Amino acid sequence: MDEDRGKATDQMKLWKENRRAQRPDNLTTGAGHPIGDKLNIITAGPRGPLLVQDTPFIDEMAHFDRERIPERVVHAKGGGAFGYFEVTHDISRYCKAKVFEHVGKTTPIAIRFSTVAGESGSADTVRDPRGFAVKFYTDEGNWDLTGNNTPIFFIRDAMLFPSFVHSQKRNPQTHLKDPDMVWDFWSLRPECMHQVSFLFSDRGLPDGFRHMNGYGSHTFKLVNAEHQPVYCKFHYKTNQGIKNLKPEDAERLASTDPDYAIRDLYTSIANGKFPSWSFYIQVMTFDQAEKFQWNPFDLTKVWSHKEYPLIPVGRLVLNRNPFCHTTQCHRCFESVQLAC
Ligand code: HEM
Repeated sequence: MDEDRGKATDQMKLWKENRRAQRPDNLTTGAGHPIGDKLNIITAGPRGPLLVQDTPFIDEMAHFDRERIPERVVHAKGGGAFGYFEVTHDISRYCKAKVFEHVGKTTPIAIRFSTVAGESGSADTVRDPRGFAVKFYTDEGNWDLTGNNTPIFFIRDAMLFPSFVHSQKRNPQTHLKDPDMVWDFWSLRPECMHQVSFLFSDRGLPDGFRHMNGYGSHTFKLVNAEHQPVYCKFHYKTNQGIKNLKPEDAERLASTDPDYAIRDLYTSIANGKFPSWSFYIQVMTFDQAEKFQWNPFDLTKVWSHKEYPLIPVGRLVLNRNPFCHTTQCHRCFESVQLAC
């Protein structure tokens, strides 16, 4: 095998080798009915016509005609992996959730990273915030903690979100990205400037998903076993170190390897280099919130780390790439069967 191709590019080869070492899967219809062959269609005689009673053929077409996942209006392009969250410091004085129950406790997680404004086929290396969505599969149910690679956001009034996002998308008249729309919005809504400054700093072009921090950004509420609440913010600091791309490299990668960040994450995990983030909280009491110099829920501002220091909680580790484990997905089987 050519070492230079990397494990992301060699995924099919590796899957095939691994599959040969195991018991072969049964090929089935979408409903799970075993079938021996899906490379031929039943015909009435050697020259046809094709017969509608060919169930695997009808199943194949029915699946193909409907295989559309509607594109997300934001965060359409992304990649992610599975792993675990481990508690390293006790925060039960702030929160009774089982996920923080005791030091050493681990909870399975999934993280999906994304860009925001681009379409599903857009380049990974554009200047845009990055989504950082964490799903904890906790003993008490799934806990979804969306976030970004920024502790702040462009707007604080949710009503403006559709207008804001439309300004970052395509001009409906030209179907082009339109810098006038973008800068009209940003310049007319001065609360954007904090996030715009972040975006146009070096951190606006993260080098893949592994070398950036994540933030819950919003202000959340934690409640302890005595029903005492505090406000909190979530922070995930990369243990790989912050690394950003130079604009010229980001531009080059946008054309030569537009899936750069997805490839980097996949390859790193496939090579056993598991990315991790240290998980912290900031805590503010209700009394402190009453006296805070501005609204502590204002998403365009941060809480000072000096006044509200980071409290260590645990670590997020990604150690498993998503895998396709169903025999009903014909795609892998197809190319392997054709190659055999
Ligand atoms: C009013 C404000 C907002 C609205 C209306 C909004 C709306 C949406 C919508 C419609 C999606 C796509 C969901 C889908 O199709 O699956 C989405 C995804 C997402 N949003 Fe927001 N959003 C808002 C603010 C934010 C903020 C402040 C953050 C970060 C703290 C954020 C982080 C994310 C992330 C990370 C995703 C992708 C989730 C994933 O990877 O599965 N959003 N949002």
